[in-house]
Amino acid sequence: MDKHILTQLIKITGRDGVLATPEDLAVYGYDGTFEDHRPDVVVLPRTTEQVSQVVMLAAAERIPLVTRGMGSGLAAASVPFSGGIALTMTRMNRILEIDEVNATAHVEAGVVTADLQTAVEKLGLFYPPDPSSNRHSTIGGNIACNAGGPRCLKYGVTGDYVLGLTVVLADGRVLRTGGKCIKDVVGYDLNALFTGSEGTLGVTTEALLRLTARPQFARTALAEFALLDDASRTVNAILSAGIVPATLELMDETAIACIEAAMRLGLPLDVEAILLIETDGSDEAAVRREMETIDRICRERGARQVRAAKDEAERASLWRARRSVSPSLARKAPNKLGEDITVPRSAIPETVRRLKAISAKHGLPIVIYGHAGDGNLHPTILFDKRDPEQWAKVEAMAAEEFALALELGGTLSGEHGVGTLKRPYMEQALGPVSLEIQKRIKAALDPVNILNPGKVFPE
Ligand code: LAC
Ligand code: ZN
Repeated sequence: MDKHILTQLIKITGRDGVLATPEDLAVYGYDGTFEDHRPDVVVLPRTTEQVSQVVMLAAAERIPLVTRGMGSGLAAASVPFSGGIALTMTRMNRILEIDEVNATAHVEAGVVTADLQTAVEKLGLFYPPDPSSNRHSTIGGNIACNAGGPRCLKYGVTGDYVLGLTVVLADGRVLRTGGKCIKDVVGYDLNALFTGSEGTLGVTTEALLRLTARPQFARTALAEFALLDDASRTVNAILSAGIVPATLELMDETAIACIEAAMRLGLPLDVEAILLIETDGSDEAAVRREMETIDRICRERGARQVRAAKDEAERASLWRARRSVSPSLARKAPNKLGEDITVPRSAIPETVRRLKAISAKHGLPIVIYGHAGDGNLHPTILFDKRDPEQWAKVEAMAAEEFALALELGGTLSGEHGVGTLKRPYMEQALGPVSLEIQKRIKAALDPVNILNPGKVFPE
């Protein structure tokens, strides 16, 4: 990176806010995928004002600027393929206000999601969106990809909790959207526009988030199914019974084997699938009744056993296990490609069957787990990227997975975003009109194309 740019960046953030040694650059070039590319410089701002000055400098000098949080993304959206500035938000990690009367939290973008959750739960409040990475991912990153998680089945995704944003635009101006009102229909919904925009339209520095009351009771159970097909059909049977569980997660035998090897929880190794189900609420009897109904439906549909977590400790370890499926699959193969296709829930059994057929056809494993209750599955291909023959198969398999989701009325991504990995399928998914409008929004907000260039849109 040019000396004079470095000097100017140091002037903005102070010396400790600018990193440029090869070792530093190496650790800000990856995310949760197999992709990796070094930035030219890492900048760690502490205020919105500093972000604004960095963006103005980048615009004047035409330097690509990629915003990142903790680098846990699963679509390569924060990998700085064009080099430039890796604007890392982790030092802006203050919870600025928790307003108990209005049930809102005002936070800086670099707050770790679980830290916010712990802070609001102490006050009897609840921030539901719970991506598996919540112990390390940041609210800013969650907003950038409109992250989901298991509880989104009942509670909705990150975007459903965004009431307002502070965003630095590509020209350095500071945009403030929304506010503490639950209803607000004045003008276009800019919160929705920036949520899920993967750093391509602006840099989110602060967020005002909606909170709810913390559910006081929860029941968690594990239903074991000899047959994967029975498990996926049971998902619809439960949801059609008028119950909305907090979570309804599916894990196939490879996912079970991986977490069992890592955590030794005594999970069954002789079944094709388990469902991890939780009901919650503030009426203990209702929560228990819902779980009793779910237990009965599971058994009627072929569950050989439904085991309730006996206490909070067991519940916590089941969830720790579920959250570690994605990282623990690394034990099985040098590389993995985990997708997050989403289908209407009526199509879950067919999707699961046909994903396994894609796996059998190409001879590479596809592990299936994910948020079956909202139709959001994580088919994960295990492979070795060094083997060109395997890589060619992986590309073909991913294309077939996406085509399958679209054919069944689904979508490419329910929660991880597009990044670079799903770019080639965007036109197929959106159609030419939507794609053209979206490109015009990008050009209007970032005319010189410095904000996360090359992401989301096909080249
Ligand atoms: C999960 C991530 C992969 O659900 O989305 O574990
Ligand atoms: Zn997920």
